[in-house]
Amino acid sequence: MKALVLAGGSGTRLRPITYTRAKQLVPVANKPVLFYGLESIASTGIRDVGIVVGDTQAEIEAAVGDGSAFGLQVTYLRQEAPLGLAHAVLIARDYLGDDDFVMYLGDNFIVGGIDALVERFRAERPSAQIMLTRVTDPRQFGVAELDADGRVIGLEEKPREPKSDLAMVGVYLFTPAVHDAVAELKPSPRGELEITDAIQWLIDAGRGVQSTLITGYWKDTGNVTDMLEVNRLVLESLEPRVDGDVRDSELVGRVVVEPGAVVSGSRIVGPAVIGSGTVVADSYIGPFTSIAVDCRVNNSEIEYSIVLARSSIDGVRRVEASLIGHDVEVTPAPNTPRAHRLVLGDHSKVQISQ
Ligand code: DAU
Repeated sequence: MKALVLAGGSGTRLRPITYTRAKQLVPVANKPVLFYGLESIASTGIRDVGIVVGDTQAEIEAAVGDGSAFGLQVTYLRQEAPLGLAHAVLIARDYLGDDDFVMYLGDNFIVGGIDALVERFRAERPSAQIMLTRVTDPRQFGVAELDADGRVIGLEEKPREPKSDLAMVGVYLFTPAVHDAVAELKPSPRGELEITDAIQWLIDAGRGVQSTLITGYWKDTGNVTDMLEVNRLVLESLEPRVDGDVRDSELVGRVVVEPGAVVSGSRIVGPAVIGSGTVVADSYIGPFTSIAVDCRVNNSEIEYSIVLARSSIDGVRRVEASLIGHDVEVTPAPNTPRAHRLVLGDHSKVQISQ
C-alpha cells in the first residue's frame, strides 16, 4: 500500500496572516501540519509516499526532504497547476501503479491518527473508504448524504444547500478502482477534477464505498480561532522536556524548551512550547502558547497564543488569543498615541484601544 499526500496548491493565496506560503506548513504546536499527516502515515506501516507539489515545491521539499526523518521514502510528483484533487490522482497514476493507497490532504489534521481506518480498509477493501465529520458550516466541504442504514448514497462538493452536516474529511482510502472513475471525470463548475465526483461515480457503479464517522478533525482554513484551538488541543498532550538553558525561572506544568532556547527571570505555565534559538527574558508565558524558533520575548506577558519564527514582543502586557506571524515586532506605543501607525497584511483584524 502507498500514500499520496497532497501538498500542492497555488501558494499565492494571502491569509489573514501570511504565516507561510504553503498552507501545509502552517505550524501546530511548532510543527507543520503536514508533518502530523506524514507521522500518521508512517504509523500505519506504509513506507512509500508520493507528495504532490505545485508552486511551493521548494518550500515543501526543504521541510520534508527525502522523508527519512519520518521513516518514509518520499517521491515528489509535480502538478503543473492545482486542477483538483482527482487531477492529483491522475498525475500520480504511474507512481501509484496497481497498489491500494491512502490519499491524505496535507492541510488536514486528524487527532489520533489513521491506524484504525487503514486497518479496516485492509480487512474489507471497499473501492473507496471515506471519513466524515460533523461541521457547523458544511458549505465549505464535500458533503455526504446517507440512507437510513448509514450507507453513503450521495456526495456533493461545497453545496449551497447541504443535505447534511457530514463533511468529507481529507483522508481517503482507495483500491485501483478509483483510476477507472478518475479517467471518466469532467471538470466541475469550479474548473477542477473533483475527488467527490470520482467517489460518486464509484457509488453509482455499485463499486462499494464505505464511510466512517470521526471526531477530532481540523483543517487549515486560515481561521485564527480554529488555529488557536487546534494548537491548544495538541499542546494538551505535550510531554514536558527542557533541552534549552533555563535560569532563575519557574516552569509549571507541561513545558517544552527546545535546544538552544534561553529562558531567564521568567515564569512559564504550561502547556507551552518555546522553540530553539528563542530568548524569553523577564516575562510570563501562559498556557496554550507556542513560540516558534528564533523569537524574542522580553519583559512581556503572553498566553493562549501562537508566535511564528523570528518575531519579537518587547515590553507588552498582555497579549492573549493572538496569532503573530513571522518576523513581526510588537512594542508598546511610547505614550497614548494621537495616531496609529500600522503595517497590516490583507484581511488582518486589529483591535485598538481609544
Ligand atoms: O479538507 C477537506 C475538503 O478538502 C473536502 O471536504 C472536500 O470535499 C475536498 O474537495 C477538499 O476541499 P478544499 O477545496 O478545501 O481543498 P483544497 O483546495 O484546500 O485542497 C486540499 C489540499 O490539496 C491542499 O493541501 C492543497 C492540495 N491540492 C489541492 C488541489 C485543488 C493539491 O495538491 N492539488 C490540487 O489540485
